[in-house]
Parts: sequence; structure tokens; C-alpha cells
Amino acid sequence: MATTIIIVSGLLIIAATSLQAAVGLYSITARTLSANRFDRARLALFKDRASVILKRVEADRAKLELTWNGKRKFRVARRVYEDPNKDICSFYLHPHDNKQVPPFFPGQFLTFELPIPGQAQPVIRCYSLSDGPVEEAQYRVSIKKLGPPPKAPADTPPGLSSNFFHDNVQEGDIVEVFAPAGEFYLNQESVRPVVLIGGGVGLTPVVSMLNWLASTHSNREIWFFYGTRNRNEHAMYENIQQIEREHPNINTVIAYSQPSDTCKEGVDYDHKGFVGVDLMKAKLRSNNYVFYICGPPPMMDMVTKDLEEWGVPEEDINFEAFGPATVKKTSSTDTAEPDADAETFDVEFSRSKLKVKWAANMGTLLELAEANGVKARSGCRAGNCGTCLTALKQGDVDYLSKPGKKPEAGSCLTCITRPKSNLVLDI
Ligand SMILES: Cc1cc2nc3c(=O)[nH]c(=O)nc-3n(C[C@H](O)[C@H](O)[C@H](O)COP(=O)(O)OP(=O)(O)OC[C@H]3O[C@@H](n4cnc5c(N)ncnc54)[C@H](O)[C@@H]3O)c2cc1C
Ligand code: FES
Repeated sequence: MATTIIIVSGLLIIAATSLQAAVGLYSITARTLSANRFDRARLALFKDRASVILKRVEADRAKLELTWNGKRKFRVARRVYEDPNKDICSFYLHPHDNKQVPPFFPGQFLTFELPIPGQAQPVIRCYSLSDGPVEEAQYRVSIKKLGPPPKAPADTPPGLSSNFFHDNVQEGDIVEVFAPAGEFYLNQESVRPVVLIGGGVGLTPVVSMLNWLASTHSNREIWFFYGTRNRNEHAMYENIQQIEREHPNINTVIAYSQPSDTCKEGVDYDHKGFVGVDLMKAKLRSNNYVFYICGPPPMMDMVTKDLEEWGVPEEDINFEAFGPATVKKTSSTDTAEPDADAETFDVEFSRSKLKVKWAANMGTLLELAEANGVKARSGCRAGNCGTCLTALKQGDVDYLSKPGKKPEAGSCLTCITRPKSNLVLDI
């Protein structure tokens, strides 16, 4: 019987490209199974699975019908601080045209174009959707206010977009938003046990996954690891506690790296220290889970490396960085001048009618463009958002890191590429 169910589920998945076909096949299958007096528990499991697939088919259709090209205006309906320190603020966004918005996959992000006073160009930044699926015509993003990095010179400006949101974007204001995007998202059809790992504000995409799993009453085994400094920086406290209380199959593990005297172990947090693979080994039954990770670069580097060493296959380790550098690289090794002995390539920016030399000390194509005054669009500067996607009229490029989604041949993401040959770029 198990084989029958697997075969039938497989058929259902294939047929699910059409909602009607999926509905038809599901009801025929369900009738057949009942008529043969199959085990009720298995039938219930099968029904659950079919219902997830049908919902996904519906969501895909709604996504196609409701998505938009370019920017769309959204009104900030509500602002809510998510932590006692008020470092993370959620913004609830309603479409200004009051029409429906497309559903998104938990883990995806929105891209904002912000007219920040004093900036020569609109500032583009990505923020993960931080809630579960869209029930109403609403999205939510949760933004951490960024100060200058520790040890930065005293005149270093704070984060542009995050401070603009916190200090200037009020309820009733309008913001311009690109449609949900991103390749880091929960596989909603999978029934495998899943581990969600969030560090600092990197909890946003994994909380979206957690909320989705909870609200769809998934019966997968679910673990949620969240690392933060202490109770003052602990975001979405109630939301996470309530989910754990109400769902026996969802386990949360909260790690505080610097708990204060008022932080209660066993109530506010479970572990003193960082979220690492040792902690996971102590909690999980095995390494046979699908992992989704988002957090600060050192945490991500350590966790992904240690998971691999633990024997977790690469395809089960999904991660997203919020961008290694949201500001232009200021490294002294990257300049606008080629090194005399470095290998060089000619790069032509065809629209800007400019030809320059690139050498290995000159950074990415985006940095080369900016250093030469070419108006190149950018957002995450980390290969995630697609804002810098540029047609490659001639030549080939090397990717310095793995893009969220590799562009089609004939185009490239300038923020994470360097020339491999002489190039002509359509900027
Ligand atoms: C896919 C994706 C999803 C994301 N989701 C979220 C999310 O859900 N929530 C969230 O809060 N963020 C998220 N981010 C990060 C977000 O997009 C921004 O990168 C973040 O808010 C910082 O942007 P900013 O404009 O405030 O800071 P920036 O202006 O880009 O500055 C970043 C840092 O550099 C410092 N800095 C500025 N100038 C200099 C200088 N000259 N020298 C040295 N340091 C300098 C600033 O003080 C600041 O600390 C996400 C990013 C990506 C790519
Ligand atoms: S700027 Fe986001 S992908 Fe290049």
C-alpha cells in the first residue's frame, strides 16, 4: 500500500501543474483508497499532503496572476517594535491600490527603492518578508536599525536605509516596492524534518518559515534555533513562545550570547552561548534534517562548515546572507587604478560610452562602474536581489560567490562578478 501511495502522490505532484487535474486526481484517489478500506491514518497523511500540494498550486496561480513588474506603492499600515531595545521594527504594508497582493514563498524578500534626502540616487535595499503566508492584502518586513560598525572611525555614518525606515517612515507613509523574490525559501511540499536557524536580525526569513509551518499545521518535525545577545535584543518573543506552546512538533532553542542578570534561563532562553552545530548535535536525533540558515556572516560560515563536517549533504544546507557588504568596499587593495603587473581586461560600458581597464585589484564590475562614474543600479551587493542584473553584450565573467539565482547566459550580476575576458556591458 505504501508503494501505491508513493506512486499516487508522485502522479499527483506531476498533475498538480493544473489545479483542475490535481483536484480531480485527488478525489478519485481518495475514493479509491476509501473503497479499499485503507488504513485511516495513512489516508489522513495522504490527504494532508494533497492539500499542501493543492494550496501550492493555487498559490502559484495567484502569484502569476497577481505579481507586478517594476515598483508598486504600498502604505505603511502599522509599525511595531519587536524587541525591548526597539532595534528591530516591523512595518506592515498594504497595497496603495487596495488590490490583492501575490502570495510569496516563506523566506523570500521585498526590494525597496527609497528616495533618501541627500542621496544622489534612490537607495535600493532588500528586506525579508517576516510573516507567514499572506492571508490578507498585507506584507510585513522587520528592519534592524544599523549603527556604525564597532571600531569604525567616529565620522562613519549609520546605516542609510534602516535608519531612514526607523526615523522617517511613519504609519500612513507610502513606500515603493518590487515584487517578492529570492531563491532562499522553504520547500513547502517536503515532509522531511526541518531545522530553521536564525542569528540576530537574520531570524526574519526563518520566522516567516516558522509562521508558515505553524499556520498550515504542518506535522513535520520542526526545530527553530535563534541566537541573540540577551532578552533586550530578543525579537518576536511572544510569537515564538506561543508557537512552541501550541505545536508539540515544533521545538524552539533560544541561545543568548551575553545574558544579563535579569535574563531567565529556562524561561527566556535555553542555552548560554552561540548557536552552533554542537548545540544541534545535543538536541537533534541525527543529522538527517533539511537546514535553513540566515544570520551574521561569521555564524553562517561556522554553521555551514560544521554541518558539512557532520555529514549533512550540501543540498540539505540552505542559507542566505543579508549581504557581506551593503556599502561600497573600502578595502585599500581595491582602487580605481590597475596595478602595473596585474592581468588586465578591457571593459566597455556601452550606454555610458566609456572604455576602461580592469585589473584584479579593482574589485567587482559594479565597483569598477562606480569608480568610473557609471550609473549602475545596485541593491544587496551580494548576488541576491537581481537589481544589478546587466546584459553582457560581449565576453565572459567569473562569479566570486554563488548568486541567489544564476542569471541566464548573456547577462550577469555585476555586484559579484569580475571579467574573465574583455567585456562589453550594457550600462
Ligand atoms: C536578501 C536580503 C534580505 C534582507 N533582509 C533583511 C531583514 O529582514 N531585516 C534587516 O534588518 N535587514 C535585512 N537585510 C539587510 C538590508 O538589506 C540592509 O543591508 C541593511 O538594512 C543595511 O542597510 P542600510 O542602508 O541601513 O546600511 P548601509 O548604509 O548599507 O550601511 C551598512 C553599514 O555600513 C556602515 N557604513 C556606512 N558607511 C561606511 C563607511 N564609509 N565605512 C565603513 N562603514 C560604513 C554603516 O554604519 C552600517 O553599519 C537583507 C538583505 C538582503 C540582501
Ligand atoms: S545588487 Fe543585488 S544582486 Fe547585485
